[in-house]
Amino acid sequence: MRSPNETVVLGIETSCDETAAAVVVRDRDTGAGRVLSNVVRSQWEQHRPFGGVVPEIAARAHVECLDQIIAEAMQGAGVGFSDLDAVAATAGPGLIGGLIVGLTSAKAIAMAHGVPLLAVNHLEAHALTVGLTEGLAPPYLLLLVSGGHSQVLLVEGVGSYRRLGTTIDDALGEAFDKTAKLLGLGSPGGPAVEQMARGGNPKAVALPRPMFGRPEPHFSFAGLKTAVRQQAAALAPLTEQKVADLCASFEAAVADCVADRVVRAMELAERLNATPEARKLVVAGGVAANVRLRSRLAELCAARSYSFHAPPLALCSDNAAMVAWVGALRHDRGDADGLDVPARARWPLDASAVPALGAGRLGAKA
Ligand code: KG4
Ligand code: ZN
Repeated sequence: MRSPNETVVLGIETSCDETAAAVVVRDRDTGAGRVLSNVVRSQWEQHRPFGGVVPEIAARAHVECLDQIIAEAMQGAGVGFSDLDAVAATAGPGLIGGLIVGLTSAKAIAMAHGVPLLAVNHLEAHALTVGLTEGLAPPYLLLLVSGGHSQVLLVEGVGSYRRLGTTIDDALGEAFDKTAKLLGLGSPGGPAVEQMARGGNPKAVALPRPMFGRPEPHFSFAGLKTAVRQQAAALAPLTEQKVADLCASFEAAVADCVADRVVRAMELAERLNATPEARKLVVAGGVAANVRLRSRLAELCAARSYSFHAPPLALCSDNAAMVAWVGALRHDRGDADGLDVPARARWPLDASAVPALGAGRLGAKA
């Protein structure tokens, strides 16, 4: 059933509020990937009463269901532990309790079944997902927008990343989540804001475009969220139509800001790496699921002769297929981690990147 030129990897993801396991196969001759199973269980119901992710609840919830999720992933893929070439788990960045749960389970599997362990960086997993889904290889420009991160990176190769821009305050997903919360919408906030925005007028409410026109491709979203709060107060009492208009106007401001920052990043990337094959833009992370943002980025790429790439929606938000994929890539080039490898709450992709100007509070996964 297994072909000798295939690498089979079990991936485990527990860095935030999704407990996930997946089995992925990589063909070592062609470099092509295939997802055999991809099981994701969201913990949103447990966190909902608190209006956000509670780290202690997240860690306990991972402990309670991870074994079952791994069993489902193995069964769904039709493989046994003896079929695995490696086991990979997210080791950071993220909430430390959850990371320890996933990484410890992976270590136990590695030890019990004698398979190599790969401790995977969650950001790298988002960054390289397009290799799994469409065979896209670096170099490319990456816009990584999730609940904990807003970054633009030059992906030069597996393990080689150059950060061009980052957020000086809130991450983009965080801005969506906080906007949803202040407008009384459900959680997670991004999909709730997107859904409401469909019925709204994106020009109805005047909102700022923070950082617009600045030379460095950094982001800032805290002021935008505050402006939504002020406009919501000015428009009170809020009808459903006013909330829809606020959401649509917020999304439009986000799309304008991100597009402006991405253009700056493209200009910078072109100066750093002028090869034609690098004219590719990849968007990844949970916010990459946002349709308005995707279509704005696609337009921008068409206008600047870049190809545009985004993982399918199910692989934009947190999942373990992307973790297994990085495990397979690293395993196939001879990497392995020791059983003493630690979980890391902080783990930047580009360790040499200097902090953004005026760097303030950073997201949970920063
Ligand atoms: O990558 P992800 O699943 O987890 C982290 O690594 O943070 O990203 C989750 C974030 C949340 O803030 C969520 O509200 C946001 O992605 N998100 C969206 C959409 N779907 C998820 N934001 C805007 N529009 C969406 N459709
Ligand atoms: Zn993520």
